[in-house]
This record gives sequence, C-alpha cells and structure tokens, in this order.
Amino acid sequence: MSATACTVVTGASSGIGEAVARRLIARGENVLAVARRGDRLRALCQGHSNARALACDLSESAAVQTIAAAVTDAFGAVRGFVHCAGFAAPAPLSLVDDATAHRLYAVHALFPLRFLGWLAKAPNHVAGTSCVLLSSLACHEGERGNAAYASAKGAVEGMLKAAASECLARGVRVNALALGVVDTPMARETWMKRVTPEELAARRAGYPLGFGEPEKVADIVDFFLGPASSWITGQCLVADGGHLLVSGRQGVLS
Ligand SMILES: NC(=O)c1ccc[n+]([C@@H]2O[C@H](COP(=O)([O-])OP(=O)(O)OC[C@H]3O[C@@H](n4cnc5c(N)ncnc54)[C@H](OP(=O)(O)O)[C@@H]3O)[C@@H](O)[C@H]2O)c1
Repeated sequence: MSATACTVVTGASSGIGEAVARRLIARGENVLAVARRGDRLRALCQGHSNARALACDLSESAAVQTIAAAVTDAFGAVRGFVHCAGFAAPAPLSLVDDATAHRLYAVHALFPLRFLGWLAKAPNHVAGTSCVLLSSLACHEGERGNAAYASAKGAVEGMLKAAASECLARGVRVNALALGVVDTPMARETWMKRVTPEELAARRAGYPLGFGEPEKVADIVDFFLGPASSWITGQCLVADGGHLLVSGRQGVLS
C-alpha cells in the first residue's frame, strides 16, 4: 500500500463521517476530510500532519475534480473512500420541490457515481482500495414523507453491484451500509426534536440494541476499509440494532 495514499471521508464535519475521520486520523492514517463547513474540518485536522481539510459542496459537478486535485497535491493517491455526506429533507410527495430533490440526488448518488468513475481510472492507483457508501433503511421501509431521500438512497444501492463489478479489474472494492436510526445531528434536526417524548420512546423501542451511534458505524466502516473484509465486494450490509427483526419487516430486503 502506498505510504502517501489517503482515505477520502466525506461528511467529515459532523455525525458518522466525523467519527470515521477522527478515528482514522488518530490512528495515523492519511485522511482528506471533506464537507462544506471548513471551520469544523480544520478543527478536526488541526495538529495532525496526516490530515487535510477540504471545504467543498458535493452537489456541484466540479466536486470530484476538486477532490482529485486535493488528493494529488496532498497525498498522491486514494486507498479508501467513505461517502458519509448527506442530508434528509422529509416532505410529502406533493411538496417535494425540484431543487431539493436535485440536491439530494447530487449529494447522495451522483457524487459517488462520479467519484467511483474517477477512481476506476485514477492515476497512482493503489491495489486493495476500499470504498464504503452509506445507504439507509429508508429506501426499504416505505416511510411516508420520505420518497425523495429514499429514492436517492435507492440509487446508491442500485449502483453498488455494477460499480463494484467495474472496479474489480483494479482490485478496488465497493460496499455499502444500509443504516437504521443513528443518533446524529441529522437525525436530531430532521425528526427527533420534532416528535413527542412518547413518540421518540416508541421509535426507540423498535431498536432492541438501541439507536446507532456514530462510533458504532465507524467500527463497521473500519471492517470494510481494512484487510478483514478483503474478500467482500458489492455487498450492502444492514446495520440497524435488530430493528427489522423485531418490526417483522425483514422481508422488505428481499
Ligand atoms: N443518522 C441516521 O439516522 C442515518 C440513517 C441512515 C443513513 N444515514 C446516512 O448517513 C450519512 C451521514 O449522516 P449523519 O447522520 O452523520 O448526518 P450529519 O451529522 O448531518 O452529517 C452529514 C454530513 O454531510 C455533509 N454534507 C451535507 N450536504 C453536503 C454537501 N452538499 N456537500 C458536502 N458535504 C455535505 C455535512 O457537512 P456540511 O454541512 O459541513 O457540508 C455533514 O458533515 C448520510 O448519508 C445519511 O443519509 C444516516
């Protein structure tokens, strides 16, 4: 593995992406931390010569080129890609506006599609590169008011096997996680703060192992980035604290 290769972590300014990036950086691995809020990224990277912050809006079509240039300048190559950037925008079907839907698709799906496209032909290629894309149970459960977000995550799962097949020729692995509720700023802002304590307790009761935490997801990402998963590609792992099992909805995955 190249000594100057890095892991690109998107969404590194908050929640799951921040937990993933913080852990890799603390272990001494090279990290390019990407999100829009540069101040938060700089605080994350401060004092770590193995980490670089890149403020970048992934809904813009130039994002992949910007990241590719930063990788080349700061490290030379990519050996890992963890796409955690994202946002939710719950709205009933009749109120989904075009601009929000385009941004959802751009950040969740079009960006990783383009990034994997770049990786599939990137110079200074590193054998054994591993990519992890974040999906959500939202694209399986059919929750009302979540069609735009669910379809963006559906696109992530839809591209997974075809992209993993293409990347095999270079020894690049691509896997995904379909997550249940994880206690992050996104979940808090989008719905946790807006429901009654009773509703929150009822939702929590549907998670026998508790809601997820960013650190727990970082553990799973670690597995997919590292050699212990070197024989796995093109797979989407559900991580949901037993939620589908007790809700009787395990069948939604088939
Ligand atoms: N939390 C859950 O319950 C849950 C469940 C299933 C799946 N997920 C998925 O897990 C991933 C991480 O979510 P989280 O819960 O950790 O949310 P979070 O705490 O809100 O973090 C989201 C990250 O995405 C970045 N981001 C958003 N829009 C961006 C843009 N246009 N360009 C660049 N970066 C952008 C944000 O940074 P800036 O604001 O600084 O740009 C932030 O770092 C998302 O894909 C989400 O859909 C979460």
